[in-house]
Parts: sequence; C-alpha cells; structure tokens
Amino acid sequence: MHFDMAFGVLAAGHSHPLLAEALQRRVANGTCYTFPVEDSILLAEELKRRFGADLVRFSNSGTEATMDAIRVARGFTGREKILKFEGGYHGHHDDVLISIQPPRESMGRPDAPDSVPATAGMPASRLAETIVAPFNEPEILGGILDDHRGEIAGIIVEPVQFNIGVVPPKPGFLERVRELATAHGAVLIFDEVKTGVVLAYGGATEYFGVQPDIACLAKSIGGGVPIGAFAGRGEVMSVIERIPDREAPGVGVEHSTIPGGATRVAHLGTFNGNPLSMAAGVVTLTRILTRDAYPQLNAMAERLTAGCQAAIDEFGLPGYAINVGPKGCVMFTPARVTNYRDFIGLDGELWSAAFFYLANRGILLPPGPDDQWTVSVQHTNEEIDRHVATFREFAQELAG
Ligand SMILES: Cc1ncc(COP(=O)(O)O)c(C=O)c1O
Repeated sequence: MHFDMAFGVLAAGHSHPLLAEALQRRVANGTCYTFPVEDSILLAEELKRRFGADLVRFSNSGTEATMDAIRVARGFTGREKILKFEGGYHGHHDDVLISIQPPRESMGRPDAPDSVPATAGMPASRLAETIVAPFNEPEILGGILDDHRGEIAGIIVEPVQFNIGVVPPKPGFLERVRELATAHGAVLIFDEVKTGVVLAYGGATEYFGVQPDIACLAKSIGGGVPIGAFAGRGEVMSVIERIPDREAPGVGVEHSTIPGGATRVAHLGTFNGNPLSMAAGVVTLTRILTRDAYPQLNAMAERLTAGCQAAIDEFGLPGYAINVGPKGCVMFTPARVTNYRDFIGLDGELWSAAFFYLANRGILLPPGPDDQWTVSVQHTNEEIDRHVATFREFAQELAG
C-alpha cells in the first residue's frame, strides 16, 4: 500500500480510470502542437476559480513554476532580491536551492539565518540575492524586511512547510506575511506545489484564507503527469506581456526600468501547456478532485492521524502525529516543531526503524523524515486501518 504517493503527486491515486481514459483519447489525437489547445483554456479557468487568480501560465514542473514566478516578481518590482524561509524547498533552480536543510554549524543566528547553498556549483552572486528568514517568526521577518527595505522583489513561502515533515503556520503568521509583503511592495508567492488542490479545492489559499499575488502549482494538478503552472493577480502577471510604463498615470508601484530595454518578462518552454498535461489536468480537476472529494480525503487523514497518535500515547513513543488536510506524518520528537531548527532535533533512528518496519509489512511511506504521507481518493478506510494497526505493532514492539 502506497502512502508516499510520489512525493504528494497522486491525490488522485495511481492511474485513476478517468485519467487513463482521457490520456488514451488524447494520445490518439496529437500530443504536441506548441499552440494552445482547448483544454489549456478549460484548465486555466478552473485554476482561476480555485485560486482567485486573474491570469494563469503553464510550465512543466514545480521548479519551473517557482523560477518563473520569481522572474515575474523581479520584472514587476524592478528589484533583484527575494526572501525565502529556512527549511523551505521550492525546486532545483539556483534562486531557491538555498538554506533547505543547512548544517547546524553554518546556518547562522536564529534571528538572521545565513544563506547556505544546498548544492555545489552555486554562484556567490545568487547567495547574495536570496535572503533567508525563519518560518513562523513574524517579528524577525519584519526586522529582516526593514534591513532590506526597497530591495525585496518577492517573498516565497510554502504555506505549510511540507519539506520538513509537517510544519503548519502559527495562527496569524501567513496573514502577517501578506501584510508585510504589501507594506514592503514585494510580490507574495505561495508555493502551492504540494498544497494546491490537495489541502482544499482552492489549496492553501482557500484553506488559510490568505490571498497571494502568485500561486505556484504542479504535482497533483496533473493527476500524475508532468505539469506546472503559476496563477496570479492580473497586474503582476501581465508583465509577461508588457512591463507597465512607470510614468503612466494610475501605476502605483515603482516598476522596473529593465537594463537592455526588455519590455516584458520572458516566459518560455516548448512543452508548456502541452496537450497531454492539459488533458490530464482537466480530467483530474473537473472529474476526480472535485469539491465533494475533500471531506472524505480529510476524514481518512484524520482517522490515520488519530490512530497513530493513539498508538504513540499507548506506548509512550517520543513523537506526535499530525496532518493538515490529506497530508500528514509522525514527527519523532516530543515537542511541536514550528520551524527548521526544531526539525533537526528529530530522532532519525526512530524514523528509520518505523519506515522499514512498515515497508517490510507492505506499507510504503515517503523515504525520508522530511516528507509526509498523502491520502488519495483511491485509499479506503480499510487501508487506513491496516496502516494504523501496523504502526501500533511497531510502537508495541519498540516499547518491548
Ligand atoms: C513545495 C515544493 N515546491 C517545488 C517543488 C519542485 O517541484 P518539481 O519537483 O515538480 O520541480 C517541490 C518538489 O518536491 C516542492 O515540494
């Protein structure tokens, strides 16, 4: 039984029959045109509805979506720096492959985290352009933004930090990030690659009731095929067509004067909006992950969390079970994790023991403590109960 669901791609489950049928039909009718197809419009309209967006662009992965959204933010504001949160993963381009899981000795002060490369081959100039803040610390965030007043093009945040287990925002945190982004003239980018169409019909944007300027999407919106998208406010997104004239009346934000005379932000890609991904997206969102799918997804996730928590309590395991919507995990540390620095206190040996115990009994969880299970529309309560029973056996054996 699969609970990793391909790093959260498969909220629709594996090879959903409706998806398989739609893809077979599409394959027989052309797989690539590099012109928009009808499904591009249908999918864009669906994403606009769900995320309260005016305009949508398609790409092929979450990495491309966040990379393009950041370029749009830079083009819109004429600024170069971006701000990300420590422990946040936003794909594998240089702007964001920074301070993902930095080693203790190089991560810097808690109130002024260093920008630590997560890869070799990172130009120093990139490190200087990505400012890092701790998640869930609005006061510190405010101070860091003050230190970089007028420099930050965009703030990128995963509304729930789903790449260090499950770390929800404290009440009011996302609202404060929204206020601060507006006050500092920075574009607020929600990385909804994992949360979008999974936490709720309208993703984290709907779940938390906070509206970003751009939402980045990928993974589950395509039901299991490669896809990416970013959806946002018209004024911001339209820099892909034209950078507004900063002298024009009614333009309130300080817009860029692009060196070299570029008049728009490039958004490119041969396979952007390709017919296969578009067909997959339309059937996934209009026939599988429909609004009425979410109550059952949430109920199964709550059942799994409650079952694991009961086993933890019964056998005194140092940890807690947590879910936000259909995504959750057991965090093997007694105290609640609120940011990356708490997360590194997790008991890795205990996590490994649980992973292999369950895997050897037919329950496949994500292959690292930084990821989490995703409940899909194809899971059943019986499968949830078997997962819980196996976890309970693990806890019992451990307690001896
Ligand atoms: C929050 C988040 N953003 C972006 C990405 C990058 O997406 P992709 O692997 O499709 O490039 C991921 C991938 O795991 C992710 O979890």
